[in-house]
Amino acid sequence: MDFKIQTAELDALARITADALVVVFGGEVLAPGLDTVVARHAQAAIKLGDFALKAGQALTLMQTDGVKAPRLVLAASGKTSLTAARAALAAGLAQIKSRGAVSAAVAFVGFDAGLAESLAEQTALAGSEAVYVYRHTKPSAAPASKLAKLVLVVSKAAAKAAKAGLARGQAIAAGVELARECANRPGNHATPTYLGEVVQSLGKTHGLKVEVLDRKAVEKLGMGSFLAVAQGSDEPLRFIVARYEGAAKTVAPVVLVGKGITFDTGGISLKPGAEMDEMKFDMGGAASVIGTLRAVAELKPRLNLVMIVAACENMPSGRAIKPGDVVTSMSGQTIEILNTDAEGRLILCDALTYAERFKPAVVVDVATLTGACVIALGGVRSGMYASDDELAAALTAAGDAVLDPCWRMPLDDEYAEGLKSNFADVPNIAGRAGGSITAAKFLQRFAGKYRWGHLDIAGTAWKGGAVKGATGRPVGLLTHFVLSQAK
Ligand code: BES
Ligand code: MN
Ligand code: ZN
Repeated sequence: MDFKIQTAELDALARITADALVVVFGGEVLAPGLDTVVARHAQAAIKLGDFALKAGQALTLMQTDGVKAPRLVLAASGKTSLTAARAALAAGLAQIKSRGAVSAAVAFVGFDAGLAESLAEQTALAGSEAVYVYRHTKPSAAPASKLAKLVLVVSKAAAKAAKAGLARGQAIAAGVELARECANRPGNHATPTYLGEVVQSLGKTHGLKVEVLDRKAVEKLGMGSFLAVAQGSDEPLRFIVARYEGAAKTVAPVVLVGKGITFDTGGISLKPGAEMDEMKFDMGGAASVIGTLRAVAELKPRLNLVMIVAACENMPSGRAIKPGDVVTSMSGQTIEILNTDAEGRLILCDALTYAERFKPAVVVDVATLTGACVIALGGVRSGMYASDDELAAALTAAGDAVLDPCWRMPLDDEYAEGLKSNFADVPNIAGRAGGSITAAKFLQRFAGKYRWGHLDIAGTAWKGGAVKGATGRPVGLLTHFVLSQAK
């Protein structure tokens, strides 16, 4: 989708040229200074009882007298928050996305001037979200939207902020789209090899240093824990490392680590059959760090970023790990694998040890790690863990700014009490209680040499049911976080 900014004042909306004019209203009263023709049509619709300035209301008026655009879409937020504006814009775009309009002009009225940058960012995100259709293995899917061009109409005073917001939104949207596309592809398409190819091609486009390690190289590194998970599958593993260099080599990098289980059967601790197909999304962490790499590479901030993906399948087989097996991680710590379905932490622990070599400023790992996190936080906020308050605040702020929120979870040492084994330094599971937290406590043992954050995105990376599909989260949060780390 093509995005542009057009400067025009609020009182001139009726003269904007586009196939559709989408007006997003903030608050419960019409903003003063609003174009009188648009205001008159909105008032008429309200009077008829067909529209109200309440959240969820959206209405399309055709060929309205005095409005140049043949379609006038009214979309109400009810409130003046960014969240409400985004929802209203999505409702407004839903009115036109499967119809004839090729271009649409979008204007926000009645919102605080301080929101200009974020509103522009959300316009790019909502626009690209509105037209995304998965078709790689379903070419017969509903035809792609005709809507191909969004023009954001802003006042002269807001133009500079809006431009910055739109550029960031477009980059994040491209990252979200890549993450969704990777995660939506089924396990027999989005293999570890495929993920390696995606990163290689990103590297070519953006001039990144990319290394894709195979089993032999991973054996040489001594990643006994990652290898243990991969050994049950015939699909070759990949350990993918990409570097974006936007600052001097002496500047310590931000490191993002993604869980790339391209299919999680549970292994010998086999999962039940119901909804097991959704375990193709178990590379959502990997997809999100790949998407973030794309967004960052497009925005070119002055910082260094390293992206690491550990990718393999978790399968049962004659060569698969068994409950009770003990493996030696790259850190030297031995791990008793009490449940082969707790495989995410087994691949991440070696990736976290590998991250030490970059002498990172901070490492954040991202994983669809535990069903327990879905129970705790549902699909609204990702679970967030951080080794210090400043990092927690930065991750929270990043998520809030782009409507990709997270919620801090605790790391008290008491939560690690169940992580005791008679046969190894640590087992890979504790009891049922606090499952997302005990998983984080396991990872923390391997992340002691740097500032560390961990996002459990099991509830936010995809949606189930009729709208089954990847969300592309938390590319928005991660991109904002990475940008916030530029000195
Ligand atoms: N990939 C799953 C986590 C998951 C489960 C994400 C359901 C989304 C929905 C992970 O590998 C896993 O199987 N975790 C186990 C851990 C348990 C064995 C300690 C879980 O959450 O059940
Ligand atoms: Mn599992
Ligand atoms: Zn898993």
